[in-house]
Amino acid sequence: MSVEQPREWQTVCRKAQLTADEALEFRLQRLKPDPHAMPLTGFLLLHDGKLRAYLNQCPHLGVELNWMPGRFMDADNLFIQCATHGALFKPDTGECVTGPCQGDALTELELRVEGGAVLVRAPE
Ligand code: FES
Repeated sequence: MSVEQPREWQTVCRKAQLTADEALEFRLQRLKPDPHAMPLTGFLLLHDGKLRAYLNQCPHLGVELNWMPGRFMDADNLFIQCATHGALFKPDTGECVTGPCQGDALTELELRVEGGAVLVRAPE
């Protein structure tokens, strides 16, 4: 019989650190630690005045999206772009609008702001 682990909130930054349309990358603690697994990362994006958090994982191959730390947006700063094959994702929904995973979407993370701190929860 397995005991269900509570999904804990993880503090990732202060809200004041965020700038519109500039992503802030963070590392997530896995619910079940695995010394052989790649680090799990996510990013926050303040877009159109709304803050969202996504898992940094392209739905096409499961690789991280960005080519440089904190660089997630395309050249026009309109879409989140995967650096591997160029898929474009809507910043407000994470939906892939063009690329090999068109119709799929990024995994959105639960987030909340508490006392100026931004907290997220790892996916199940
Ligand atoms: S790995 Fe992201 S588009 Fe192929």
